[in-house]
Amino acid sequence: MFDIQSVRDQFPALQSASDNSPQALVYLDSAATTQKPKQVIDTITQYYSQHNANVHRGTHSLTANATSLFEHAREKVRDFINANSTKEIVWTRGATEAINLIAQTYARNTLVAGDEILISEMEHHANIVPWQIVAEQTGARVVKIPMLPDCTLDIDAFKSLLNPKTKIVAIGHVSNVTGTRHPIEQMIQLARQFDPVVIVDGAQGIVHETVDVQKLDCDFYVFSGHKLYAPTGIGVLYGKLALLEAMPPWHGGGKMVNKVSFSGTSFSELPGKFEAGTPNVAGALALSSAIDWLKSIDPQGAEKHVQQLQQRAYLAIKEIDDIEVIGYQEKASVISLVMAGVHHQDIATLLDQQSVALRAGHHCAHPLMDALGIKGTVRVSFALYNTTQEVDAFITALTKAVDML
Ligand code: ALA
Repeated sequence: MFDIQSVRDQFPALQSASDNSPQALVYLDSAATTQKPKQVIDTITQYYSQHNANVHRGTHSLTANATSLFEHAREKVRDFINANSTKEIVWTRGATEAINLIAQTYARNTLVAGDEILISEMEHHANIVPWQIVAEQTGARVVKIPMLPDCTLDIDAFKSLLNPKTKIVAIGHVSNVTGTRHPIEQMIQLARQFDPVVIVDGAQGIVHETVDVQKLDCDFYVFSGHKLYAPTGIGVLYGKLALLEAMPPWHGGGKMVNKVSFSGTSFSELPGKFEAGTPNVAGALALSSAIDWLKSIDPQGAEKHVQQLQQRAYLAIKEIDDIEVIGYQEKASVISLVMAGVHHQDIATLLDQQSVALRAGHHCAHPLMDALGIKGTVRVSFALYNTTQEVDAFITALTKAVDML
């Protein structure tokens, strides 16, 4: 059973007021990055104090042990998303790097002029710009799937945009601005009639629901550790084995090779082929630790708690004159809001002065902002460590900010 107090107690960053901010911090920016539980922080400390060595190199016991821990972490991720093989799990710096890897290996080597890449209007820039770069390189076209006024994806438009030239569909699991959960299962099924490769950007999704990549039948699924209670600088690229095997390497360097000579180089087996250089070993171990931790705290109960917080905040925000909620989604973890005639940053600054931390701006989603005809929003995002008291403190601070503006 989910116990908010015992969960919250495990987050050192949420325990006390700081020197700069005498009031207790109300952290409502978890869609940008989550705070980290002590277990994850301890894993990093323990790794550097007891196990630090380079992996897959050398013969001494320390490196053998570090390699074993590192590969055990990969197995943990495989199990977490139910991939078929650890060969399908590639460590990256995050979701952004994973999408760039797909664009510069799979897409750059298969797309030809006139091919189409379908992406939604609601994507984060990380799932737009890599496709624009590879389109420029290959002569392919990036085609936008529009959204409806309620900030959901226009599935009828998606159906009509699919055609034999569609070679890639890249879709966010959940929008980082509105919390819209895209109908990825239906989209994958619909896409199959023309057989494009389907990439799901799970950066905002995997923290909120169980992901089974085999059941989903996506070709690629990517996510970042730092939105999943793990550190920054570690992420995952899942790809179907046949696709990863056919893809050429991206970054060159140590560990991704079998034999290097000036007459030619042969490359490692998967997943090493895509992991040039010394990897983020501590990050991989900490991500594995975050997965263990998440599983231990009743993830379904936690998600219900998050949804209740979001609902409580929404009902209260609706009572505040002058504030408009943008694209509200039920059972989500974020709310985006605007105030007519007031810059979003001014609201965020007044909230920050009251120790409420949240993000204001375009949220790296310019096309979504353009579609809505706005420059930005104030985004409040909830995580499993937030409390109803924090929601109420946020509402009080927001009401005060509105009165001052
Ligand atoms: N993508 C992150 C966010 O939505 C940084 O805030």
